[in-house]
Amino acid sequence: MKVVTTHAELRAALDAAGRGAPVVLAPTMGALHHGHLELVRLARNEAGPRGMVVVSIFVNPIQFDRAVDLESYPRPLDEDLARCRAAGVDLVFVPEAAAMYAADRSVRVHESLLSRGLCGARRPGHFDGVCTVVLKLFMLTRCDAAVFGEKDFQQLAIVRRMVRDLDLPVRIVACPTVRETDGLAMSSRNVRLNPDQRADAPRIHRALSDAARIDGGIDGVRAMLDAARAAIVASPLARIDYLELVDAETLQPVDTLERDAVLATAVFYGDVRLIDHMRVPAQPS
Ligand code: PAJ
Repeated sequence: MKVVTTHAELRAALDAAGRGAPVVLAPTMGALHHGHLELVRLARNEAGPRGMVVVSIFVNPIQFDRAVDLESYPRPLDEDLARCRAAGVDLVFVPEAAAMYAADRSVRVHESLLSRGLCGARRPGHFDGVCTVVLKLFMLTRCDAAVFGEKDFQQLAIVRRMVRDLDLPVRIVACPTVRETDGLAMSSRNVRLNPDQRADAPRIHRALSDAARIDGGIDGVRAMLDAARAAIVASPLARIDYLELVDAETLQPVDTLERDAVLATAVFYGDVRLIDHMRVPAQPS
């Protein structure tokens, strides 16, 4: 496994691998857990034994809207590299922020529809930061395919939209959400929960799964949202940032289940913000 930090080193490593073999990228911000490693497994499937699996590790400053979140983001690089090595990654790209962003940079990628609600509404500029860095990583690694987790389903939808609207020659592969045995979606931020918060946090997934099973007929959507909200706020440790039912494709809020929908939430435990979602299939009215 090769580890590179500069654009020139990355280019040299890609050139040395030669053309022809597919390059598959798994972009991450590090603090790798089993969810990330599942991305790597899918990347290898996609690349084949002769292809090149590239992981990028970059805590992208321009996608953070809260200084405390950026500063406290875990950065265990040695462990991350050991995990990549054990998972059979070929190349790890760990750029410096100064090399990624010129001080006078003046171009960014803006998605204007799918990023309006949910996390986009609460985290101004977040998805511009994500799109901008993802496009740069696609260009730098010249990847044929890239793997993204369904856990960040709004991000996945926005990246797919960017690929479609900008004709990017990159196939997007979706990875199902990997959970702890108690149901909590794996996240690099989970390590920042204190033991009480960590013990409480599986209620998010429980609340969404229980609510999603409620009959979505007349008043069903309201009942679903009320049930999920009640199950989360029953904990004094949890504070809801948003809880919404949105159309699975347009991500716009819905009040009927005529089409497939997604029940999505962001919940604060202290200053740690966790997101999760659950698909709710269309139900005959
Ligand atoms: P990060 O939060 O490190 O996540 C990297 C990738 O891993 C994302 O595609 C995310 O959806 C996926 N992932 C995280 N937890 C997962 C889980 N429990 N199950 C399945 N997949 C999971 O998302 C980002 O970084 C950044 O926004 C990035 C795309 C790297 C751009 O900076």
